[in-house]
Amino acid sequence: MLVDVFPAVRGLMAAGTRLPRLQVISAASGGCPGLPADARPDQIVEALRPLIPAGATEADIPGVGRVAASFSSRAGRAADKIALVTGAAQGFGFEIARDLAAQGAWVVLADINVAGVEAAAAQLNTDLGRPAAIGVAMNVADADSVRTAVRAVVAAFGGIDLFVSNAGVLKAASVKTQTVADLDFVTNVNYKGYFLCVQAVSQVMALQHAACPDAWFDIIQINSKSGLQGSNKNGSYAGSKFGGIGLTQSFAMELVEDHVKVNAICPGNFFDGPLWSNPKTGLFVQYLTTGKVPGAKTIADVRAFYEAKVPMGRGCTTPDVMRAVYYLVDQLYETGQALPVTGGQVMLK
Ligand SMILES: NC(=O)c1ccc[n+]([C@@H]2O[C@H](COP(=O)([O-])OP(=O)(O)OC[C@H]3O[C@@H](n4cnc5c(N)ncnc54)[C@H](O)[C@@H]3O)[C@@H](O)[C@H]2O)c1
Repeated sequence: MLVDVFPAVRGLMAAGTRLPRLQVISAASGGCPGLPADARPDQIVEALRPLIPAGATEADIPGVGRVAASFSSRAGRAADKIALVTGAAQGFGFEIARDLAAQGAWVVLADINVAGVEAAAAQLNTDLGRPAAIGVAMNVADADSVRTAVRAVVAAFGGIDLFVSNAGVLKAASVKTQTVADLDFVTNVNYKGYFLCVQAVSQVMALQHAACPDAWFDIIQINSKSGLQGSNKNGSYAGSKFGGIGLTQSFAMELVEDHVKVNAICPGNFFDGPLWSNPKTGLFVQYLTTGKVPGAKTIADVRAFYEAKVPMGRGCTTPDVMRAVYYLVDQLYETGQALPVTGGQVMLK
């Protein structure tokens, strides 16, 4: 029941267009009377409105209990936003979550690597010296897992203002030899996973919008330069990322009615992240040992080869990506875009 009404309660307790974090201070059981199981967002809001007078910061919600809204006094570019980041146990996802938390957000880190994401959230809280993050289990390729995780986010904080669809995998191979199992693996995480997450998250955002019509919410997919330009012997990945841009544009057209902006960020290679730099499994080691870079004798040679492909001469970093994230969140007149962050390696036509 919580997930069905909590985002609307948040919207009804908003201060202007700023939605609070919610907590249940004493729980009730049962359903919200008078609401059919398939109630529309506007019906849910109208049923709740008499229970929540303007300016209220606490209310008794049948089926939920006594609910309290709170705003923190934190400063920052993401102050008081509730953010969900997938694939956040490591790499870009973890660093994006860390930056959002440092900028004042409440952050839910979601990952299929449950131990990893719980440790990552605990590390964020320790580093910040205050509670700001929780970790939840989520397999983005499994609809039930996604729904369960989104319910956990709503139960913990009340709703979602910013969803960062970051979980992604890569299995590079020739089209002539790639197994169907590997193609399915990449497609299921990168393409289907993005769809399933937006399916669950957009319903939370629609409820918030019905209760607080002037607020805007954001969905940002961490796509890739390979979503804008083909990638040799990496078709399953590039195809899944091109597909992600098709989804982004389509979601943007549909969800604008709920004040949800949907955009993609297309980073260049993140050489300092585990995908490239893991000393055992990283792409630098793989490319060195398989002789993919002609004449390369060391990891530094492989890295220099790839850096030379970038007009700005270096790989992409999380601060580069965060500038794009905050631009897209701050910008109230753009949706459906794929924003390159590639140091000039990919230029839009
Ligand atoms: N690393 C790069 O050079 C690069 C460049 C451009 C775009 N990207 C994109 O950035 C995103 C993050 O990449 P990264 O390099 O940080 O990756 P990474 O491999 O370091 O981390 C990916 C995370 O996603 C998680 N994950 C995998 N499958 C999952 C699933 N089914 N459900 C939930 N979580 C799952 C993993 O456990 C891991 O924690 C991806 O979408 C990737 O395509 C990466």
